[in-house]
Amino acid sequence: MGYKMKRKSVDPVYSMCVQPSFIIGTNNEDGSENFAPITWVSVTHEEGDGYLLVISMFGTKRTKQNVIRTGVFSANLVSVEMLPLMDYFGSKHAKDGKKNDVEYSVSRGIALDVPTLDDSPWVYECEVERSVEMGDSTTFFCRIRNIQMDERLSPKDIFDLDLTLLDPVIYSGRYHSLGKMLGEIGDFRKNV
Ligand SMILES: Cc1cc2nc3c(=O)[nH]c(=O)nc-3n(C[C@H](O)[C@H](O)[C@H](O)COP(=O)(O)O)c2cc1C
Repeated sequence: MGYKMKRKSVDPVYSMCVQPSFIIGTNNEDGSENFAPITWVSVTHEEGDGYLLVISMFGTKRTKQNVIRTGVFSANLVSVEMLPLMDYFGSKHAKDGKKNDVEYSVSRGIALDVPTLDDSPWVYECEVERSVEMGDSTTFFCRIRNIQMDERLSPKDIFDLDLTLLDPVIYSGRYHSLGKMLGEIGDFRKNV
């Protein structure tokens, strides 16, 4: 500490924001399922317990159309093991045909009638509460109606989540994995 980081100014065109990777499961008009990766995902809070999932989609992709039409979707956290699946779902657009060139197994949500990915260690079942359009993008604020978490997790409180166990893919233009768990809030406060 005490050292001044040497930085340089660049055009504000980068989205370095460290993004969590989710594969979004939606219902097509014909009742079949569709999956696509979306990493513009965060949370916010309104009141009471729990969070709202905030998720943003650009363009006219099928996933966005399905979310607008049905108001529901699943957000399946992508573990490192699932990277090939995410890469596949992300490189094929639903308008170019069903995404059935690779194998994966699908179940239905517990609280909502949405397709979920059996491989995922953490699944949110979401219902859109509000959406905000900005240009080409729509940002959805969504109620989390159910969370399915890996049975190996047994958090003692809502902050006690061992992300190293979930092994999520982190995206920032490139795919990364997570580093070490460093501690809890307060562990670094020293004697202040
Ligand atoms: C790693 C990754 C992250 C992505 N994140 C987003 C995102 O946050 N928002 C978005 O609108 N599209 C995102 N995409 C693009 C869609 O996943 C892609 O266009 C996909 O083919 C759309 O599929 P669909 O036609 O089935 O909806 C991402 C793609 C990849 C590979």
